Amino acid sequence: MSGILCFRNIGQLVQADASTQPGIRLRKQGALLVEDGRVHKILKDSEIKSSKSYTKVVDCQGRAVVPGFVDCHTHLIYAGERKDEMIDRIRGVTYMEILENGGGILSTVKATSRATEKELFDAAKKRMKRMIALGTTAFEIKSGYGLNLKSEMKMLTVGKKLRASLKVPVTLTYLGAHTVPTGEDREEFLEEIIENLPRFRGLADGVDIFCEKDVFTVADLRRLFLQAKLLGFDLRAHVEEFSHQGGCTEAAKLGALSCDHLEYATPMDIHAMHAAGTTAVLMPGVTLFLGGEKRPLVHSMLDAGVALALATDCNPGSSPTYNMQTILTLAASMYRLTPEQALAAGTYGSAKALGAEKDYGGLLPKQRADFNLLKTNDYRDMFYYFGENFVDTTYIAGKKFNAPKDPATH
Ligand code: NIG
Ligand code: FE
Repeated sequence: MSGILCFRNIGQLVQADASTQPGIRLRKQGALLVEDGRVHKILKDSEIKSSKSYTKVVDCQGRAVVPGFVDCHTHLIYAGERKDEMIDRIRGVTYMEILENGGGILSTVKATSRATEKELFDAAKKRMKRMIALGTTAFEIKSGYGLNLKSEMKMLTVGKKLRASLKVPVTLTYLGAHTVPTGEDREEFLEEIIENLPRFRGLADGVDIFCEKDVFTVADLRRLFLQAKLLGFDLRAHVEEFSHQGGCTEAAKLGALSCDHLEYATPMDIHAMHAAGTTAVLMPGVTLFLGGEKRPLVHSMLDAGVALALATDCNPGSSPTYNMQTILTLAASMYRLTPEQALAAGTYGSAKALGAEKDYGGLLPKQRADFNLLKTNDYRDMFYYFGENFVDTTYIAGKKFNAPKDPATH
């Protein structure tokens, strides 16, 4: 729709940018003008002109409008489920033990390798539509369930098609070094990944690695990242999730855009992230789902001025959730973040983790008009009445998203 769209009578209008960190800007009784899919202007409701001046006027009935959530760490392209593994874990087997026994990530690798490109696309598209209906308007998606050239390329091709089909921002990350396939030599496997990296230019925006005890080492991370950096990929890393290895500091020193998980990150790691301007991506859904007790040093990160981001980590093993509202709530209660801080992290912070904070994440003039009209006049209800879906309507580039009505098949 051309011309200017006017969203008026907004009881709470939330914005976030570098200047509001670690919080948000809250305007009362505001109006939002959208032109060509971008935020044109934010003004007081009393300042809007007669309705004839706009192509369309939407009365928000005094409710809250927040920037669309940015899910900056997902593995949402996959086949198969891992419910039996969940039961094993409940009975006491650990996530890493399951992986060492050929399950976990490796069982999703098997299912994903068998699936056709179309099957993966259809399943992932359904997931993303549900995520959008829950308020997510920008995604990062990793490969990593292929673990060979052909299947990894298949996953990233699906990612590109999802981006084109759903018309939302999608950042793609090549996670060939997710784990070592059964029976393969770690160093040889990594060598192959490094040799083949140039073939992923144009398919992926960034490169990631799972740096963990018995998976990939800090030296592996360094070798992979040096080459990836030379080729112009953004760097992001799964680090310090189940143990402290030193991958966070190494990744930060090499200029990683984000370091993700960080339950075992130390004050030195926080210092390194701050010095490098690396964003800390926190995923409390994983801790909740795996029943972990260790929390990242979130308040040391805040005190140090490290930007915080929040993500679902949506994947069939450690965090099968689609819902960023749940993640914000968990971040508030598990990390003692105020609703303001959590909301800023899941919007502006997550966009920053993707290097996209100029383009979206804050509902600022000239940014993409990606936002959520909530069912309530107080965005804090999302945190207080936890577990409910408070997104009434998701707007993508100013356009109402039609939420799927189909049953919850995954
Ligand atoms: O971010 N830590 C490793 N990778 C994923 C889990 C992937 C899976 O279990 O399938 C994570 O938690
Ligand atoms: Fe992950």
